[in-house]
Amino acid sequence: MSAVVFGVSLSPSLSLVQRVFSINHPSLAAKQQLLHTANKEEKSIATAAGKSRQERWSLAGATALVTGGSKGIGHAIVEELAGLGARVHTCSRNAAEMEESHRRWAEKGLTAITVSVCDVGVRGDRERLMAVVKDTLDDKLDILVNNAGMLIFKPATEYTAEEYAQVMATNLESCFHLCQLAHPLLAAGDGGGGSVVHISSIASVIGYPWEALYSTTKGGLNQLTRSLAAEWAHDRIRVNCVAPGVIKTDMVKDVPVTNLELKNYD
Ligand SMILES: NC(=O)c1ccc[n+]([C@@H]2O[C@H](COP(=O)([O-])OP(=O)(O)OC[C@H]3O[C@@H](n4cnc5c(N)ncnc54)[C@H](OP(=O)(O)O)[C@@H]3O)[C@@H](O)[C@H]2O)c1
Repeated sequence: MSAVVFGVSLSPSLSLVQRVFSINHPSLAAKQQLLHTANKEEKSIATAAGKSRQERWSLAGATALVTGGSKGIGHAIVEELAGLGARVHTCSRNAAEMEESHRRWAEKGLTAITVSVCDVGVRGDRERLMAVVKDTLDDKLDILVNNAGMLIFKPATEYTAEEYAQVMATNLESCFHLCQLAHPLLAAGDGGGGSVVHISSIASVIGYPWEALYSTTKGGLNQLTRSLAAEWAHDRIRVNCVAPGVIKTDMVKDVPVTNLELKNYD
């Protein structure tokens, strides 16, 4: 796995080689040997399966569902996947914002993006969303990104039962249920099978005041990722999780800087 990261994600330039090597192998001869090996690796990867790097990173022909794409991180994910050639469906609760995003994407030439309105915290909405996805993407789904999420920032003692239910349903139950609904399509994908990406949070592993519910859902999402990855490997479905630190989006706009250490991210 680390060999793949080294060869594909990081270009084996001299500076990188020197940087890596200076930690482990101080001699010049050893550095030159590593560069030689890296160049050979680069060549063999460049011709892997007879495809160029650009072709290997293309998502042309792939289909994706990204929840919560009207703004923030989900919006960027939609744009990136569509920019790489995938057909992408996304949703949010606010129809006007979703349509506005759709219009701006079309202006940028990203015409393979479709949108719909869905509250992922509601079971019936999730079922309708998957029906729309099947219809729009011709019964084909290669990538599911469970991104939509919410944060209610308050002391643990003050959450109501309704707030507890809403945060759980939006951040955790929705991911589990959408995985269930997507499983037949993800397993049916040709080639390498499907891919699920969960957007967790650094708060899944660190305790922050006033984020008890949010953190609990994200911790659950991490474990859901591990469990499904183990269970669905047989179906050739990869399940992974990204746990970002603080990113300036609407979600955190009312959270005090001291709580999120935003001062480090200006
Ligand atoms: N920003 C950060 O610092 C940070 C750090 C780590 C992880 N994350 C995670 O990253 C993900 C995206 O967060 P963000 O910062 O991009 O938030 P954001 O800017 O508030 O965007 C959230 C997106 O999800 C949608 N959404 C929220 N609740 C939904 C629901 N019930 N049904 C359907 N769509 C819903 C929102 O649209 P509507 O409200 O119109 O529905 C919006 O499109 C979340 O899972 C969050 O926990 C964020």
